[in-house]
Amino acid sequence: MSDQVPFVDLRAQYQSIKAEIDEAVLALLDSTQFVLGRDVAAFETLFAPYTESAHALGTSSGTSALHLALLAAGVGRGDEVITTPHTFIASVSAIDYCGATPVFVDIDPVSFTIDAEAIEGAITERTKAILPVHLYGQMADMDPIMEIANRHGVAVIEDAAQAHGAEYRGRRAGSIGLAGCFSFYPGKNLGAYGEGGAVTTSDAQMARMVHMLRDWGAEEKYHHVLKGFNYRLEGMQGAVLTVKMAHIEGWTEARRAAAARYDDLLAGSGVEVPKQLADRRHVYHVYAVRTDDRAGLQAHLTEHGIGTGIHYPIPVHLQEAFAELDHGRGDFPHAEVAADEVLSLPMFPEITLEQQERVVTAVRSFGRS
Ligand SMILES: Cc1ncc(COP(=O)(O)O)c(C=O)c1O
Repeated sequence: MSDQVPFVDLRAQYQSIKAEIDEAVLALLDSTQFVLGRDVAAFETLFAPYTESAHALGTSSGTSALHLALLAAGVGRGDEVITTPHTFIASVSAIDYCGATPVFVDIDPVSFTIDAEAIEGAITERTKAILPVHLYGQMADMDPIMEIANRHGVAVIEDAAQAHGAEYRGRRAGSIGLAGCFSFYPGKNLGAYGEGGAVTTSDAQMARMVHMLRDWGAEEKYHHVLKGFNYRLEGMQGAVLTVKMAHIEGWTEARRAAAARYDDLLAGSGVEVPKQLADRRHVYHVYAVRTDDRAGLQAHLTEHGIGTGIHYPIPVHLQEAFAELDHGRGDFPHAEVAADEVLSLPMFPEITLEQQERVVTAVRSFGRS
């Protein structure tokens, strides 16, 4: 149905850059540099300065980027890593992959990111790192997080999977902690045509470790310094991402303009719109509103052909997979209420005013029904 509004529209973006992408992919095929290689190196050369970092290292996914950054920061068995339960499970699984224990701190209910003031109370002698998640495209409160981390001598690894180009007090996501971890999953603000990720850092030792760990721990071919992984970024993703680097700022501004339009159009509609804090550049990977009848509103929007998402319906501390952590309802109340109330509206750079008006008309008609 032509008057449906999709939650994301990857085809619209491909159509807008089809000639450039097709040419780059054909050249990649011709080069046969299918794993790492020329196009991945070209992309890394662009992505490092974009994130205001000295180094960017392409990885097979955002999850592998997190895993490698944590390992390179020295996180291992018996250690604790502090993060929030209001995130995609990958943030927490990466900690678990290292043999470390995730320690949760509740979110600040306005920004949906870790409550920096509450981190101090979660630090123990086993704490090895803090993993703030720049959720939905808005960065966590990095200055107090860095202050606490530096005072206790623990590393900060930024989960920037949703925050390409986001800023905190003028500094880019991925440039403030010891490392930043990005995802290029197709629907992300910078999306590959398959899986992909990157670690960004200005620390030479972190860069060297990730460089080795992503490719079997080898310093040079068949000389394995570390027990590493097959976490390499594919050449084809390097080719696609290199093309997309020329457009990422335009797309980010289009997302921000679309978010500002939603903010205006939704005024007085009964849903709470997301808040961009004054010292941040929110890049709106997700435009999440809050409502006390989420199930009702989502069903109503589905009926009207509006695609929606829920990021995320179950906080990680209540996921069955992490039952071993022995948490229960009430442990992280802000995260639990957010999980019950958030609803993500259609958001992508190509969304038109007319599509947004259709979304908002549907939201408002729920308020009246
Ligand atoms: C906050 C967050 N962290 C980590 C990841 C993992 O990234 P990937 O799916 O590329 O492994 C994602 C993406 O899904 C994410 O949203």
